[in-house]
Amino acid sequence: MIPALVPLLLLACGTRASLIDRRAVVSRFNPSRNASSNTTPIQAGNGNFAFGADVTGLQTFQPFAILSSWGWKNDSFPPGKTSEDIENYKGTSWLNHGRPVQYDFGGGGTVEQWLIANPNRVNLGRIGLLFLSAEGQLQAVSEQDLTGIHQQLDMWTGLITSQFSYEGFSVTVETAAAQTTSSVGIKITSPLLKSGRLGVFLDFPWNDGSAKFSAPFVGNWNATANHTTSLRIPESGRVRAEISHTLDTSLFLTSLVGDEVMVKRDALTNHRYTIRPKRNVSSFSITVDYTKEGGSSLEIPSPQDAFASSIRTWNNYWTKSGFVDVDSGSADPRARELQRRIVLSRYLMRVNEAGDTPPQESGLVNNGWVCARCVQMYFWHSAHWALWNNWDLLRRSSSVYSRFLAGSLQRAQVQQGWGSGARWPKMTDPSGRSAPGQINNLLIWQQPHPLIFAQYEYQAFPTSEILDKWRDVVRETANWMAEFAWLNSTTGVYDLGPPMYVVSEDTSPNITQNPALELAYWRLGFTIARNWMTRLGEDIPTHWNEVAGNLAKLPIDNGTYAVYEGIESNFWTDPEFTSDHPALVGLHGWLPPTEGLDLNMARVTAEKVWTSWNITDCWGWDFPMLAMSAARNGDTSRAIDWLLHPLFVFDDVGMPVGGVRVPTPYFPGSGALLYAVAMMAEGWDGSTGVGPGFPKEGWNVRTEGLGKTL
Ligand SMILES: *[C@@H]1O[C@H](CO)[C@@H](O)[C@H](O)[C@H]1NC(C)=O
Ligand SMILES: *[C@@H]1O[C@H](CO)[C@@H](O)[C@H](O)[C@H]1NC(C)=O
Ligand SMILES: *[C@@H]1O[C@H](CO)[C@@H](O)[C@H](O)[C@H]1NC(C)=O
Ligand SMILES: *[C@@H]1O[C@H](CO)[C@@H](O)[C@H](O)[C@H]1NC(C)=O
Ligand SMILES: *[C@@H]1O[C@H](CO)[C@@H](O)[C@H](O)[C@H]1NC(C)=O
Ligand SMILES: *[C@@H]1O[C@H](CO)[C@@H](O)[C@H](O)[C@H]1NC(C)=O
Ligand SMILES: *[C@@H]1O[C@H](CO)[C@@H](O)[C@H](O)[C@H]1NC(C)=O
Ligand SMILES: *[C@@H]1O[C@H](CO)[C@@H](O)[C@H](O)[C@H]1NC(C)=O
Ligand SMILES: *[C@@H]1O[C@H](CO)[C@@H](O)[C@H](O)[C@H]1NC(C)=O
Repeated sequence: MIPALVPLLLLACGTRASLIDRRAVVSRFNPSRNASSNTTPIQAGNGNFAFGADVTGLQTFQPFAILSSWGWKNDSFPPGKTSEDIENYKGTSWLNHGRPVQYDFGGGGTVEQWLIANPNRVNLGRIGLLFLSAEGQLQAVSEQDLTGIHQQLDMWTGLITSQFSYEGFSVTVETAAAQTTSSVGIKITSPLLKSGRLGVFLDFPWNDGSAKFSAPFVGNWNATANHTTSLRIPESGRVRAEISHTLDTSLFLTSLVGDEVMVKRDALTNHRYTIRPKRNVSSFSITVDYTKEGGSSLEIPSPQDAFASSIRTWNNYWTKSGFVDVDSGSADPRARELQRRIVLSRYLMRVNEAGDTPPQESGLVNNGWVCARCVQMYFWHSAHWALWNNWDLLRRSSSVYSRFLAGSLQRAQVQQGWGSGARWPKMTDPSGRSAPGQINNLLIWQQPHPLIFAQYEYQAFPTSEILDKWRDVVRETANWMAEFAWLNSTTGVYDLGPPMYVVSEDTSPNITQNPALELAYWRLGFTIARNWMTRLGEDIPTHWNEVAGNLAKLPIDNGTYAVYEGIESNFWTDPEFTSDHPALVGLHGWLPPTEGLDLNMARVTAEKVWTSWNITDCWGWDFPMLAMSAARNGDTSRAIDWLLHPLFVFDDVGMPVGGVRVPTPYFPGSGALLYAVAMMAEGWDGSTGVGPGFPKEGWNVRTEGLGKTL
């Protein structure tokens, strides 16, 4: 324990000093395994690239995936269709208060299906250990043939160390992901290398968009005739070997850097290459690097540099960003498991969810949801980065709003005929094109998200540069929010919808009007957008003021808030409306109190959700959302219970288990957990003291470098 005086003095001089022994807290939860999992890998990665390992530290027995934020391919076009048919896809039009609006769904047959399935995220390959007999023959080895297996991930450095014995000889494999390239560094140490009995294989699967849920494994290893690979051994330079992989019109390169190797194609398996060290020494190191066609080999790190970059970057991450310790010194037995979830989630979010584009639900582990990148989920995937002070990581993808602005202006105004503004897509490809689907195109709760990201960035950096950077996005976001609200001239009230889908996607779109959560979110959005213009010194558009001032009131039914206006009065007892995401608890919890919110009614509504909702049907971020509601309502012990609910599970390596509805992993659950923990630990606008969302008794909550929640 450091004496309290020293850090206080340091802090007074403006030097950052950590009171929490962060390394001890992180290392306490380093995951270890002695057998491969059938469902989740142990991972090394950097946010844009991740390598899923089995218990050998490679993919010897389990073909876990190697995924990236840049590795995409298109399937060939449907029979008889051309790229023009794809480009010219137009969905159907539905009426919005009498005006036909053109949406990206329906009517497209095979073209629509193609657009849903493409592009698809490619599993870049597989790397495994190769066992040979003393005579040099390949041996069929299974995990059962190994003894003394022990594997550990050191989260402080990002290094995976895997140890075991084979036929009495020890083998150690160290694995780490480089941090600025899509490369994995591998170091193998074993007496088997000296006798030429150990090597590595590379393999490459076929990928396409035919499987909706590609979990736990990605790609098809049998369709060997559908794709091609070829080997090149450069005569000079650092690259020892290069394999190009062609799938339809996409080409990917795999390069080897490091110790000298002998590479051979395995004639039997077509895309499998065997790699053996050229020298008979007891240790062998290589980097395996993945890029797209046209990538540069100059930046590929040596294996030593790959390890060094992992150590340096993870050290920085743990040392320089926000930190929470609820475990050390807490008497409550729930503290240990909560801290485990926090630390493992912090690791996995940086591996899987810190890329240049909004992440998918299953991160870079597998393609659990048909390559979806759901922009409405971006809040749960990524808002926690703002609270944990990881601006470098958040900015990689939050720039998506300026990148997608032109397309979203086009969607709103040209395609759908709104007078102004940008309508953000719900599910996109890397270019921002909206994927077909009714729900995809009628959901609206993704619309105010960029305002939240802008607001947090300004809170952290209150400069004119930040105001300017977000200006157009803020303005066009609010413009469309104002456009979408429809004036009922009889009542003088601006209504949201129909048609639209609510958060829980389970009401009939043509009759859904004035949903509670979306109305509150619209109000919060207008508040942020109006303040933004004031700070910039620009006039607030009069239409915003008019809409914000006359927006429909939150729907109420018999003393509680209702899902939407006009929903049947007994909706609390109707399973049709009391399953899926319980967004009603978000009115005061996920969202801060918005204008006109009755806090007492919000609390009664939340309590009604606890007793009337089908909690068995909830998953992922629902539980942190329930926790935030309990915390803001002062029911702190229940908030902890929600975070540790038996249906909200994190496996031995911290993977968020999908639960009843979705495949594993489901990372919005991890992002929401970290958002809720930051809120409960550091507090929200108007809260006081440390740990306002934690029970006063039995908990010792310490935070460093976190931001406050709205
Ligand atoms: C392997 O790990 C499991 C679960 O942690 C444990 O129960 C078991 O004893 C371990 N086996 C060996 C051989 O270490
Ligand atoms: C897939 O095809 C679409 C439509 O032709 C195109 O815009 C996109 O760039 C292609 N993506 C890839 C990864 O080939
Ligand atoms: C909604 O209304 C449109 C007409 O605007 C109609 O074509 C569509 O079938 C309706 N959808 C549902 C789900 O009722
Ligand atoms: C390495 O060991 C193998 C097996 O003992 C042997 O066949 C081979 O010649 C050795 N290679 C070198 C370069 O010493
Ligand atoms: C590949 O073939 C094996 C054995 O024939 C089979 O068990 C497996 O399901 C196939 N995999 C795929 C993805 O088709
Ligand atoms: C492989 O290609 C053939 C011919 O194009 C096609 O019929 C088949 O469906 C493809 N197989 C897979 C698994 O995509
Ligand atoms: C306008 O509001 C009134 C009162 O709620 C309602 O009866 C009427 O149907 C609304 N008009 C339209 C076109 O929705
Ligand atoms: C209204 O709420 C009260 C108290 O929660 C309940 O007893 C009553 O049955 C509800 N009435 C209707 C019509 O649902
Ligand atoms: C609650 O949800 C679970 C999981 O989806 C489902 O199996 C069950 O039937 C639902 N119960 C009710 C009462 O709808």
